[in-house]
Amino acid sequence: MRIEIPREFERIGAVQIYGLQKIYELDAGPETPAFASDKDGLVRCIPSEDIYEIESEMAIVVPVRNERLKLLEGVLVGIPNPCLVIVVSNSPREPVDRFHLEQETIENICRLTGKKVLVVHQKDPVVAKAFAEAGYTDILDDKGLVRNGKAEGMIMGTLLARMMGRKYLGFVDSDNYFPGAVHEYVREYAAGFRLNEGDHTFVRISWHSKPKIVESELYFAKWGRSSIQSNRILNKLLSCYTGFETEIIKTGNAGEHALTLDLAMNLDYATGYAVESYHFVNIFEKFSGILPDTDANNMSNKVKIAQIESRNPHLHQHKGDEHVEHMIAASLSTVYHTKLCPENLRADIDELLVTRGYQSEDATLAPVRVYPALNKLNLDTFTEIMEEIIPMAPGEFISSVKPELKDQAVM
Ligand code: GDD
Ligand code: MG
Repeated sequence: MRIEIPREFERIGAVQIYGLQKIYELDAGPETPAFASDKDGLVRCIPSEDIYEIESEMAIVVPVRNERLKLLEGVLVGIPNPCLVIVVSNSPREPVDRFHLEQETIENICRLTGKKVLVVHQKDPVVAKAFAEAGYTDILDDKGLVRNGKAEGMIMGTLLARMMGRKYLGFVDSDNYFPGAVHEYVREYAAGFRLNEGDHTFVRISWHSKPKIVESELYFAKWGRSSIQSNRILNKLLSCYTGFETEIIKTGNAGEHALTLDLAMNLDYATGYAVESYHFVNIFEKFSGILPDTDANNMSNKVKIAQIESRNPHLHQHKGDEHVEHMIAASLSTVYHTKLCPENLRADIDELLVTRGYQSEDATLAPVRVYPALNKLNLDTFTEIMEEIIPMAPGEFISSVKPELKDQAVM
């Protein structure tokens, strides 16, 4: 892969955020000497071997809720073989057992490719029991099962990746139409880790474009409606502390992102679609040194956030516009409710939400649920219980659903 080195960065305490990096070649071939074609050192070349090496230490978590099987299959096709794939499904099991259909699709791909895929259902009672006994009960609903939500699925995936001993963790949505785009994201995660070695690296993808039909023509939009707002507010939050206006954050809502397992286990998680914006907020809370209760250990560990601009267009399943406003509100809520947010920025957020018709002038934006970092959970207990449903046999297709669970309606 050939990738531009970042042209700028912002620093706040131990956090270093790099500017967007362009890709110049998706595959630069094997053992290419670094800087081979760029004497000025503006572009770095990462040999394919290095990419594969990192992929073999990476788990890719694929959250699924009721997606078309063809899309899920395409996503699996796009994920490079060395990665361990962890599918966390929250698809309904009644009246049609969608989860069973997903498993069949996955099993088929595994048979043909020898892929390593681990599949779990978000409502599996054994998973709920593992969380309960490991002392992580906030994630359970009033029925005692894991709550709905993409972030909740991501948390499960993170723990499974930890259990399986992976060093890097990436996320890819399951409703992507282009296997080639998925393939590109994973290679870019690996490139980001190669360029930013260390235990606290975050790689976030900014889509080059998102195709839409406008007046019967294809139009390649650059920014989603939600990203524009969350990037703007996150940049404002950052500039409140650096004193310089900035546009460095371009990936406030990046569903496609990857991070070292060590960092993933140290971050608090916001629920639902607020999860990605809260990554920035929580990293600022824990690693900027601004809050008085900052753990001194955090300040000795540099957190590097790389932002990479992908080349493939991003085309995913269109699910209607209703949830965009909720997505914006949820993202902004993470900024609004952090102790780091100054009053003038809160007023700015209020004004934006009133103008968009999301809330009335006298209303206050509700906080989103935040789960504590996974390093607070008893991993040994969690693992012990999960081993009931996950045989830890490396190299084999692993499915969590035992026959008796298949007949049990859990949703
Ligand atoms: N396990 C699980 N549990 N997965 C879920 C759940 C759930 O409750 N809800 C949704 N998913 C899966 C979907 O199947 C999809 O693969 C992925 O999570 C993202 O959900 P979408 O509904 O497709 O979200 P989106 O396309 O509107 O938003 C995406 O892009 C945003 C940036 O523009 C998401 O990745 C957002 O998180 C991201 O901020
Ligand atoms: Mg989607």
